Amino acid sequence: KPYVIGVDLGGTNVRAAVIKRETEEVVGRGDNLPSYAMDGVAQTCAQIVLAAENAIEKAGISRDQVLGVGVAVPGHVKAKEGMVLWAPNFKDQWKGVQIAAPVQEALGLPVFLGNDANLAALGEYAFGAGRGVRHLIMITLGTGIGGGIIIDGKLLEGADGGAGEVGHVIVNAGGRGGNTSFGAIEGEAQISAIVERAARKIQEGRKTVLGTLVDYDRFMLTPAIIAQAAEAGDEVAIEVFEETGYYLGVTLASLINLFNPQMIVIGGGVAQAGELILDPIRRTTYACAIRSLSRSCTIVPAGLGDNAGILGGAALVLQLLGGAE
Ligand code: BGC
Ligand code: NA
Repeated sequence: KPYVIGVDLGGTNVRAAVIKRETEEVVGRGDNLPSYAMDGVAQTCAQIVLAAENAIEKAGISRDQVLGVGVAVPGHVKAKEGMVLWAPNFKDQWKGVQIAAPVQEALGLPVFLGNDANLAALGEYAFGAGRGVRHLIMITLGTGIGGGIIIDGKLLEGADGGAGEVGHVIVNAGGRGGNTSFGAIEGEAQISAIVERAARKIQEGRKTVLGTLVDYDRFMLTPAIIAQAAEAGDEVAIEVFEETGYYLGVTLASLINLFNPQMIVIGGGVAQAGELILDPIRRTTYACAIRSLSRSCTIVPAGLGDNAGILGGAALVLQLLGGAE
Protein backbone atom coordinates (compact mmCIF):
# COMPACT_ATOMS: atom_id res chain seq x y z
CA LYS A 1 0.00 0.00 0.00
CA PRO A 2 1.66 3.20 -1.23
CA TYR A 3 0.12 5.83 1.09
CA VAL A 4 -0.25 6.76 4.75
CA ILE A 5 -2.41 9.41 6.39
CA GLY A 6 -1.28 11.86 9.03
CA VAL A 7 -3.88 13.71 11.08
CA ASP A 8 -3.22 16.79 13.18
CA LEU A 9 -5.87 17.06 15.87
CA GLY A 10 -5.51 20.51 17.39
CA GLY A 11 -7.39 22.17 20.19
CA THR A 12 -9.06 24.34 17.53
CA ASN A 13 -8.91 22.53 14.17
CA VAL A 14 -8.33 19.07 12.79
CA ARG A 15 -6.81 18.41 9.39
CA ALA A 16 -5.36 15.45 7.56
CA ALA A 17 -3.06 14.79 4.64
CA VAL A 18 -2.16 11.83 2.48
CA ILE A 19 1.56 11.14 2.30
CA LYS A 20 3.26 9.03 -0.32
CA ARG A 21 5.45 6.45 1.37
CA GLU A 22 8.12 6.33 -1.30
CA THR A 23 8.87 10.06 -1.44
CA GLU A 24 7.44 11.13 1.95
CA GLU A 25 5.69 14.02 0.20
CA VAL A 26 2.22 15.34 0.88
CA VAL A 27 0.04 14.39 -2.11
CA GLY A 28 -3.33 15.51 -0.80
CA ARG A 29 -4.19 17.92 1.95
CA GLY A 30 -7.62 18.12 3.54
CA ASP A 31 -9.42 21.21 4.75
CA ASN A 32 -9.33 22.60 8.29
CA LEU A 33 -12.34 21.26 10.16
CA PRO A 34 -13.33 22.55 13.60
CA SER A 35 -12.38 20.40 16.60
CA TYR A 36 -13.05 22.70 19.50
CA ALA A 37 -16.75 23.34 19.90
CA MET A 38 -17.66 19.69 19.49
CA ASP A 39 -20.39 18.06 21.48
CA GLY A 40 -18.23 15.53 23.25
CA VAL A 41 -15.67 13.01 22.12
CA ALA A 42 -17.89 11.09 19.68
CA GLN A 43 -18.33 14.21 17.59
CA THR A 44 -14.62 14.93 17.61
CA CYS A 45 -13.95 11.36 16.41
CA ALA A 46 -16.45 11.92 13.61
CA GLN A 47 -14.51 15.07 12.63
CA ILE A 48 -11.26 13.05 12.52
CA VAL A 49 -12.95 10.55 10.19
CA LEU A 50 -14.25 13.37 7.97
CA ALA A 51 -10.79 14.97 7.87
CA ALA A 52 -9.18 11.69 6.75
CA GLU A 53 -11.85 11.08 4.10
CA ASN A 54 -11.46 14.63 2.88
CA ALA A 55 -7.70 14.14 2.44
CA ILE A 56 -8.26 10.84 0.56
CA GLU A 57 -10.63 12.66 -1.77
CA LYS A 58 -8.22 15.57 -2.32
CA ALA A 59 -5.40 13.11 -3.09
CA GLY A 60 -7.62 11.30 -5.60
CA ILE A 61 -6.75 7.87 -4.20
CA SER A 62 -8.87 5.10 -2.75
CA ARG A 63 -9.05 4.00 0.85
CA ASP A 64 -7.60 0.56 0.19
CA GLN A 65 -4.34 2.13 -0.96
CA VAL A 66 -3.77 3.49 2.55
CA LEU A 67 -1.57 1.57 5.00
CA GLY A 68 -2.77 3.33 8.14
CA VAL A 69 -3.58 6.57 9.92
CA GLY A 70 -1.44 8.34 12.54
CA VAL A 71 -3.18 10.92 14.69
CA ALA A 72 -1.30 13.65 16.57
CA VAL A 73 -3.28 14.38 19.74
CA PRO A 74 -2.89 17.47 21.96
CA GLY A 75 -2.58 15.53 25.18
CA HIS A 76 -1.09 12.62 27.07
CA VAL A 77 -1.72 9.49 25.06
CA LYS A 78 -1.60 5.86 26.06
CA ALA A 79 -0.60 4.67 22.62
CA LYS A 80 -0.98 0.93 23.06
CA GLU A 81 -4.58 1.24 24.21
CA GLY A 82 -5.54 3.97 21.74
CA MET A 83 -6.52 6.12 24.73
CA VAL A 84 -6.14 9.78 25.53
CA LEU A 85 -5.38 9.95 29.26
CA TRP A 86 -5.53 13.74 29.54
CA ALA A 87 -6.05 16.52 27.02
CA PRO A 88 -6.50 19.77 28.95
CA ASN A 89 -7.25 22.12 26.08
CA PHE A 90 -10.52 20.76 24.75
CA LYS A 91 -13.68 22.48 25.91
CA ASP A 92 -14.67 19.40 27.90
CA GLN A 93 -11.10 18.54 29.06
CA TRP A 94 -10.65 14.90 27.99
CA LYS A 95 -9.77 12.38 30.67
CA GLY A 96 -9.39 8.73 29.70
CA VAL A 97 -11.24 8.64 26.37
CA GLN A 98 -11.05 6.06 23.58
CA ILE A 99 -10.15 7.63 20.25
CA ALA A 100 -8.40 5.04 18.12
CA ALA A 101 -11.08 2.32 18.19
CA PRO A 102 -14.07 4.39 17.00
CA VAL A 103 -12.03 6.12 14.27
CA GLN A 104 -10.55 2.81 13.14
CA GLU A 105 -14.00 1.25 12.96
CA ALA A 106 -15.48 4.11 10.95
CA LEU A 107 -12.56 4.33 8.52
CA GLY A 108 -11.78 0.64 8.19
CA LEU A 109 -8.07 1.44 8.51
CA PRO A 110 -5.55 0.88 11.31
CA VAL A 111 -5.31 3.97 13.52
CA PHE A 112 -2.45 4.94 15.85
CA LEU A 113 -2.13 7.81 18.30
CA GLY A 114 0.79 9.90 19.47
CA ASN A 115 1.25 13.08 21.48
CA ASP A 116 1.26 16.02 19.03
CA ALA A 117 4.52 17.56 20.23
CA ASN A 118 6.31 14.21 20.50
CA LEU A 119 5.30 13.52 16.89
CA ALA A 120 6.36 17.02 15.85
CA ALA A 121 9.77 16.38 17.45
CA LEU A 122 10.09 13.13 15.51
CA GLY A 123 8.99 14.94 12.35
CA GLU A 124 11.58 17.72 12.80
CA TYR A 125 14.24 15.11 13.58
CA ALA A 126 13.42 13.02 10.52
CA PHE A 127 12.56 15.67 7.92
CA GLY A 128 12.89 19.17 9.36
CA ALA A 129 15.19 21.60 11.15
CA GLY A 130 16.73 18.84 13.25
CA ARG A 131 17.73 16.36 10.56
CA GLY A 132 20.46 14.21 12.03
CA VAL A 133 20.68 16.17 15.31
CA ARG A 134 20.96 13.39 17.92
CA HIS A 135 20.01 15.49 20.96
CA LEU A 136 17.06 17.71 20.22
CA ILE A 137 14.16 19.26 22.10
CA MET A 138 11.03 20.50 20.36
CA ILE A 139 8.63 22.97 21.91
CA THR A 140 5.33 23.89 20.27
CA LEU A 141 3.57 27.18 21.02
CA GLY A 142 -0.16 27.22 20.40
CA THR A 143 -3.52 26.68 22.10
CA GLY A 144 -1.42 24.64 24.53
CA ILE A 145 2.34 24.31 24.88
CA GLY A 146 3.83 20.95 24.00
CA GLY A 147 7.26 19.37 24.06
CA GLY A 148 9.17 16.42 22.72
CA ILE A 149 12.61 15.34 23.90
CA ILE A 150 14.91 13.32 21.65
CA ILE A 151 18.08 12.07 23.29
CA ASP A 152 20.57 9.92 21.42
CA GLY A 153 18.22 9.82 18.46
CA LYS A 154 15.39 8.34 20.55
CA LEU A 155 12.21 9.96 21.79
CA LEU A 156 12.11 10.02 25.58
CA GLU A 157 8.84 8.29 26.55
CA GLY A 158 8.88 7.79 30.31
CA ALA A 159 6.85 5.23 32.23
CA ASP A 160 3.49 6.05 30.64
CA GLY A 161 4.52 7.64 27.37
CA GLY A 162 4.01 11.05 28.92
CA ALA A 163 7.57 12.37 29.16
CA GLY A 164 8.31 15.74 27.61
CA GLU A 165 5.33 17.74 28.86
CA VAL A 166 7.31 20.95 28.54
CA GLY A 167 4.15 23.07 28.80
CA HIS A 168 3.68 21.95 32.38
CA VAL A 169 7.12 22.97 33.64
CA ILE A 170 6.46 25.30 36.56
CA VAL A 171 7.98 28.74 36.12
CA ASN A 172 5.88 30.58 38.63
CA ALA A 173 5.18 28.51 41.73
CA GLY A 174 1.74 29.40 43.05
CA GLY A 175 0.78 31.21 39.85
CA ARG A 176 -2.07 31.09 37.35
CA GLY A 177 -3.73 27.71 36.79
CA GLY A 178 -6.71 27.68 34.47
CA ASN A 179 -6.89 24.40 32.58
CA THR A 180 -3.23 23.83 33.07
CA SER A 181 -0.95 23.03 36.02
CA PHE A 182 -0.57 25.86 38.53
CA GLY A 183 2.21 28.26 37.64
CA ALA A 184 3.14 26.32 34.51
CA ILE A 185 4.75 27.92 31.46
CA GLU A 186 1.59 27.07 29.51
CA GLY A 187 -0.36 29.50 31.70
CA GLU A 188 2.16 32.24 30.82
CA ALA A 189 2.70 31.62 27.12
CA GLN A 190 -0.21 29.73 25.52
CA ILE A 191 -2.29 31.75 23.05
CA SER A 192 -4.91 32.73 25.63
CA ALA A 193 -2.18 33.96 28.02
CA ILE A 194 -0.57 36.09 25.31
CA VAL A 195 -3.92 37.62 24.46
CA GLU A 196 -4.70 38.20 28.13
CA ARG A 197 -1.34 39.95 28.60
CA ALA A 198 -2.13 42.32 25.74
CA ALA A 199 -5.70 42.90 26.94
CA ARG A 200 -4.43 43.82 30.41
CA LYS A 201 -2.11 46.45 28.97
CA ILE A 202 -4.91 47.96 26.89
CA GLN A 203 -7.11 48.06 29.96
CA GLU A 204 -4.39 49.78 31.97
CA GLY A 205 -4.63 52.59 29.43
CA ARG A 206 -1.18 52.06 27.92
CA LYS A 207 -0.47 53.90 24.70
CA THR A 208 -0.90 51.30 21.94
CA VAL A 209 -2.61 50.74 18.60
CA LEU A 210 -3.83 47.32 19.79
CA GLY A 211 -7.13 48.59 21.18
CA THR A 212 -8.24 50.31 18.00
CA LEU A 213 -6.96 47.42 15.83
CA VAL A 214 -9.59 45.14 17.37
CA ASP A 215 -12.28 47.72 18.12
CA TYR A 216 -11.64 47.28 21.85
CA ASP A 217 -13.02 43.72 21.59
CA ARG A 218 -10.54 41.45 23.39
CA PHE A 219 -12.03 38.39 21.72
CA MET A 220 -10.66 39.71 18.42
CA LEU A 221 -7.08 39.81 19.75
CA THR A 222 -4.74 37.13 18.36
CA PRO A 223 -0.96 36.64 18.50
CA ALA A 224 -0.89 37.41 14.76
CA ILE A 225 -2.53 40.81 15.29
CA ILE A 226 -0.22 41.58 18.21
CA ALA A 227 2.73 40.60 15.99
CA GLN A 228 1.48 42.90 13.25
CA ALA A 229 1.40 45.81 15.71
CA ALA A 230 4.85 44.90 17.04
CA GLU A 231 6.29 44.80 13.51
CA ALA A 232 4.97 48.33 13.04
CA GLY A 233 6.87 49.40 16.17
CA ASP A 234 4.09 49.38 18.77
CA GLU A 235 5.95 49.27 22.08
CA VAL A 236 3.21 47.60 24.07
CA ALA A 237 2.89 44.83 21.49
CA ILE A 238 6.67 44.35 21.53
CA GLU A 239 6.51 44.15 25.31
CA VAL A 240 3.90 41.37 25.11
CA PHE A 241 6.35 39.20 23.14
CA GLU A 242 9.26 40.25 25.40
CA GLU A 243 7.43 39.10 28.53
CA THR A 244 6.15 35.90 26.93
CA GLY A 245 9.62 35.14 25.57
CA TYR A 246 11.12 35.74 29.00
CA TYR A 247 9.04 32.95 30.58
CA LEU A 248 9.79 30.64 27.66
CA GLY A 249 13.50 31.39 27.97
CA VAL A 250 13.45 30.52 31.67
CA THR A 251 11.86 27.18 30.72
CA LEU A 252 14.39 26.46 27.97
CA ALA A 253 17.26 27.22 30.33
CA SER A 254 16.03 24.46 32.65
CA LEU A 255 15.70 22.09 29.70
CA ILE A 256 19.26 22.82 28.61
CA ASN A 257 20.53 22.26 32.14
CA LEU A 258 18.63 18.97 32.41
CA PHE A 259 19.16 17.43 28.98
CA ASN A 260 22.16 19.12 27.36
CA PRO A 261 20.55 19.24 23.88
CA GLN A 262 22.38 20.39 20.74
CA MET A 263 19.30 22.11 19.41
CA ILE A 264 15.95 23.43 20.58
CA VAL A 265 13.32 23.74 17.84
CA ILE A 266 10.48 26.22 18.37
CA GLY A 267 7.27 25.44 16.47
CA GLY A 268 3.53 25.92 16.62
CA GLY A 269 1.43 28.84 15.38
CA VAL A 270 2.89 31.44 17.75
CA ALA A 271 6.40 30.74 16.43
CA GLN A 272 5.24 32.47 13.24
CA ALA A 273 5.93 35.72 15.12
CA GLY A 274 9.56 34.94 14.25
CA GLU A 275 12.28 37.08 15.84
CA LEU A 276 9.69 38.98 17.90
CA ILE A 277 9.43 35.91 20.12
CA LEU A 278 12.70 34.10 19.27
CA ASP A 279 14.92 37.00 20.23
CA PRO A 280 13.66 37.39 23.83
CA ILE A 281 13.61 33.59 24.18
CA ARG A 282 17.26 33.37 23.15
CA ARG A 283 18.37 36.29 25.32
CA THR A 284 16.76 34.86 28.46
CA THR A 285 17.81 31.28 27.77
CA TYR A 286 21.46 32.16 27.28
CA ALA A 287 21.41 34.49 30.29
CA CYS A 288 19.94 31.82 32.59
CA ALA A 289 21.31 28.43 31.46
CA ILE A 290 24.66 26.98 32.49
CA ARG A 291 27.09 28.55 30.05
CA SER A 292 29.15 25.45 29.33
CA LEU A 293 25.92 23.65 28.31
CA SER A 294 24.13 26.47 26.48
CA ARG A 295 27.07 27.50 24.34
CA SER A 296 26.70 24.42 22.13
CA CYS A 297 22.89 24.62 21.87
CA THR A 298 21.19 26.48 19.05
CA ILE A 299 17.59 27.72 19.24
CA VAL A 300 15.92 27.59 15.84
CA PRO A 301 12.45 27.89 14.29
CA ALA A 302 10.72 24.69 13.12
CA GLY A 303 11.45 23.60 9.57
CA LEU A 304 8.14 21.88 8.84
CA GLY A 305 5.84 24.74 9.82
CA ASP A 306 2.38 23.46 10.53
CA ASN A 307 3.04 20.17 8.75
CA ALA A 308 5.00 18.79 11.70
CA GLY A 309 2.09 16.97 13.34
CA ILE A 310 0.89 15.49 10.05
CA LEU A 311 4.32 14.27 8.98
CA GLY A 312 4.97 12.98 12.50
CA GLY A 313 1.69 11.04 12.37
CA ALA A 314 2.69 9.55 9.03
CA ALA A 315 6.14 8.67 10.40
CA LEU A 316 4.46 6.88 13.32
CA VAL A 317 2.46 4.64 10.95
CA LEU A 318 5.56 3.84 8.92
CA GLN A 319 7.51 3.05 12.06
CA LEU A 320 4.81 0.63 13.27
CA LEU A 321 3.64 -0.91 9.98
CA GLY A 322 6.16 0.17 7.37
CA GLY A 323 8.25 -2.97 7.58
CA ALA A 324 5.21 -5.23 7.27
CA GLU A 325 4.67 -4.94 3.53
C1 BGC B 1 -0.80 19.15 26.64
C2 BGC B 1 0.24 18.45 25.81
C3 BGC B 1 0.20 18.91 24.38
C4 BGC B 1 0.27 20.42 24.32
C5 BGC B 1 0.16 20.97 22.91
C6 BGC B 1 -0.63 20.63 26.47
O1 BGC B 1 -1.60 21.29 27.23
O2 BGC B 1 -0.65 18.80 28.02
O3 BGC B 1 0.07 17.04 25.89
O4 BGC B 1 1.28 18.36 23.69
O5 BGC B 1 -0.75 20.99 25.11
O6 BGC B 1 -1.01 20.58 22.29
NA1 NA C 1 5.10 15.74 24.56
